[in-house]
Amino acid sequence: MTSAPESPVDPPLALLAELTHRCPLRCPYCSNPLALAGRSTELTTEVWLDVFAQAGRLGILQVHLSGGEPAARRDLEALVAGARSAGLYTNLITSGLLLDRARLERLRQAGLDHVQLSVQDSEPCGADRIAGFQGAHERKLAIAADIRAVGLPLTLNVVVHRHNIARVPELIDLALALDAARLEVAHAQYYGWGLANRAALLPTRAQLEAATAIVTQARERLKGRLAIDYVPPDYYARRPKACMGGWGRRFVAVAPDGAILPCHAARTIPGLEFPDVRQTSLADAWQHAAAFTHFRGTGWMREPCRSCNRREIDWGGCRCQALALAGAADVVDPACSLSPLHETLVAVAEGESASPPPAFRYRSLSEGPKIA
Ligand code: SF4
Ligand code: FES
Repeated sequence: MTSAPESPVDPPLALLAELTHRCPLRCPYCSNPLALAGRSTELTTEVWLDVFAQAGRLGILQVHLSGGEPAARRDLEALVAGARSAGLYTNLITSGLLLDRARLERLRQAGLDHVQLSVQDSEPCGADRIAGFQGAHERKLAIAADIRAVGLPLTLNVVVHRHNIARVPELIDLALALDAARLEVAHAQYYGWGLANRAALLPTRAQLEAATAIVTQARERLKGRLAIDYVPPDYYARRPKACMGGWGRRFVAVAPDGAILPCHAARTIPGLEFPDVRQTSLADAWQHAAAFTHFRGTGWMREPCRSCNRREIDWGGCRCQALALAGAADVVDPACSLSPLHETLVAVAEGESASPPPAFRYRSLSEGPKIA
């Protein structure tokens, strides 16, 4: 692929450090790619520490320590300490299953600033079925209490879909009961495992509208007590979201095997080469690599985006979704009503969400293609 013309760009706001793809849970909407990276390909502690030091020098403000399950890395405490001493605000995105109070205390002492804990539902049966792990929910409730007991701020994250969307009120109550400062209600996004399970997960439009109304009312009612973030699903939208805040504008991700990526799904786009953090600096990749410059800004756009007055608001939507649904990464995201494919997408959403849900295809390291 050829690159768009370069001009100096601001540094990214945040680094998404995907420390590992290993995870005890098997959620069917996992944002990891279908081709998961095996343990033998993971970066060493030293390389990650260097990445964090580079991120600090580049002017990045925050690191999201993510996975898979980042606590599957035995060196997590050392990584947190390294990120903190590089001047980064450290956020741990976790299922909680590999944590206990002693480890949380060590992480806090190492400089951890914040924990984002996922729950799959408000009731154990449904939650464990989604997670593909018996007893997961009960352990998550215990770890949420431990997070608060060691003095760490807590955000509760729940991915919503047709199997749990009716319990948004109970999920809000759960966030309050667990003393979370923030609740993120994020509709499942349909890439990777989510796309493979779309027909099992998509809610109906009526379910979506009911959940949106509940969140809107709760935001007002709980102002000052619980902040609620809401990520709507693309399939019923009229305009797409600015995926990652725009390609190569706010986020840089480093995959477990060292690939430097503009988003977690970017590797699905053929023709782009992603630099390896062991060979290319974060600054160099961000500023010059075609993987970042190619879809940065508006130069790559075709109509209808090229002449649209939202082109610098949503940046044409999501490149990976355009590829997955329209077969090309450089066309308007079909989530946009100006896409010629939009009506087809809505019909797919309405058809799939009204049909009986198929069985989940659970996330699995052993299934499907694997990065060595
Ligand atoms: Fe956004 Fe392109 Fe749709 Fe305009 S045409 S709203 S820029 S996706
Ligand atoms: Fe890659 Fe949206 S997930 S651009």
